[in-house]
Order: sequence, then structure tokens, then C-alpha cells
Amino acid sequence: MKCSILLVTILLGLVAALASEPPQKVDWSKIKPIDVIPGKYDQWKTKPGTLARGAGGRIIGGVEVKPGAFPHQAGLRINGQSFCGGSLISNLYVITAAHCTIGAYTVDVYLGAHNIYEDEEEGRLVLTCPYENLIVHAAYDPYSISNDISLIMLPQRITFTDRIQPIRLPTRSEALDDLENLYLTASGWGRDSDSATSISPVLRSVELQVQPVPICKHFFSDIILPSNICTNSGRGQGTCSGDSGGPLIFNKTNTDKYIVGLTSFGSSISCVDAGWPSVFTYVGAYLNWIRDNTDIIIEN
Ligand SMILES: *[C@@H]1O[C@H](CO)[C@@H](O)[C@H](O)[C@H]1NC(C)=O
Repeated sequence: MKCSILLVTILLGLVAALASEPPQKVDWSKIKPIDVIPGKYDQWKTKPGTLARGAGGRIIGGVEVKPGAFPHQAGLRINGQSFCGGSLISNLYVITAAHCTIGAYTVDVYLGAHNIYEDEEEGRLVLTCPYENLIVHAAYDPYSISNDISLIMLPQRITFTDRIQPIRLPTRSEALDDLENLYLTASGWGRDSDSATSISPVLRSVELQVQPVPICKHFFSDIILPSNICTNSGRGQGTCSGDSGGPLIFNKTNTDKYIVGLTSFGSSISCVDAGWPSVFTYVGAYLNWIRDNTDIIIEN
């Protein structure tokens, strides 16, 4: 009896100690933006202007967002040392790219953040997720970067605030819509110029035009699948290292937006050099996979 009371006391003490732990100091200049290169096209690396930049991606040619304007945006610190983006899609799940979470043993999910370099921000929530909470698409192929999608289950259901809100998934019928030439919005803390070596302190966004599939295939050939969507980098705009896994959203109306894509990979020595498109995982192609791996109901 005494023994169990002692144990309870120790446990309570431990919980109190954990809860009052001062916020973790992170040296953000040492956090590496994640990048993937389609191994299938490794030979491109030797050709000038064709080096794949990979999914990490930075927002290039964009602007700093108004704090709180992208309340679904998540920042992911992976194994304490690498960085990706993600999106909150319910009070329990964050969606991101498989190349961000594959092989990870811990992911710190930042919600409601704006200046990620700050030790603390009002309304920011940081949740640590162990590898058991990571759901990576079983058919993710790092060679072709296909099925580049994963889910993170948060350690508990969260309460939404003005700074933390989910972005909705497309309905089944919206997933069939042709978005060609429409302008969508990508966001992230990715590097904001080719010369930057670390991620951007503040969240940035850029409007990107959906590129017709034949043009994207002209650059990437058969690596582009119906489960991808490409945007035009012709105006010096795109994603880059550190944006990986982050959202591409469609403002259907002023008040209704949904997630169309996840930043997957790109190409070129520069993130937007010579018009190489930004390539995203097309979320609409994975609605059944999301249904099967979460408790989220997919609308028709
Ligand atoms: C979509 O809305 C966001 C703000 O909610 C804005 O920053 C962005 O520019 C809009 N995108 C387009 C393509 O209109």
C-alpha cells in the first residue's frame, strides 16, 4: 500500500516535472531542410540545370504570410535535426510527405507557429510524436518518389484556436476536378533563396499556377503520375528545401479552401531555374488511403 502511494507520488512528480520543463532551445541554423532527389534520374545531376532539388523545397518568390493566415500549417522537426512542412487535417492527424517521415524515430510537430526561430510564440503548440505515430504509405518509392505521402497521429486530440485550424480534404467529386491553369497557394518555412543555407524564420507563401501535365512530363517524363500535380516555375516562383510535405491549397471561395497537394520534389540546380516545375503529391488520389488510415470521413 505504502509502496503504491510512493509510486503514485513519484509518477505525479515526474508528470509535474515534464509539464514544467522549460521550452526546448533549438539552434535553427543547424536544422537541415529535407530534400529528396528522384534516384531514377540520378544521371541528371551531371547535366547542368537538371539537378533535382527534391521535396524539401523552399518558398521562392513568395511573401511572408500574415501571422495566423495559414492556421493549418505545421512545421515538422524530424529526429531533432531536419525540417519539413505538414498540414493539420483534423484534431488528430497531420498530413505530410513520406520522404519527410520515412525512417524517422521522433517528430516534433509545431502548430500555430509563425516565427519558428523564436523559443516561444503565443498560441503555438509543439507536440512530440514517436515513430509509432507515423504512418508512411507502404508503396512509397524513394527511387521514383511515388506515393510520397504520410500521416502523423498526434499524441492527443487537440483543441482548435484562431491560430490552429484544420484544412479540409477535397471531396470525391472535387478530386476529379481539372485544376489546370488555376492559381494555388504553397506555404512553408523552406529556404527563401538559392543562396540561403537554412530555413526561413517566418512562414512564407507563394501563388503558383497549375501546369498542364504534358509540359510537366516534358521535364520529368514518366516520373510524373496521375497522383502528382505540377506548378509552373516560369516566373521564378516555387517551392524549395524545407517546404517538403507542406500544403498546396485551393481557395475555392473566400472562406472555403481545401488541400490539393503536398510539396514533393522539384528539379534544377536552382529551385526555380530554367522553368523546372514544382511537383506535388496529389491528395485527391489518396482519399481512400487517408480514409483507411485515419478516422476522417471523406465526403462525396
Ligand atoms: C489564398 O488565400 C490566402 C490567404 O488565406 C492568400 O494568402 C493567397 O494569396 C490566396 N491564394 C490565391 C491564389 O488567391
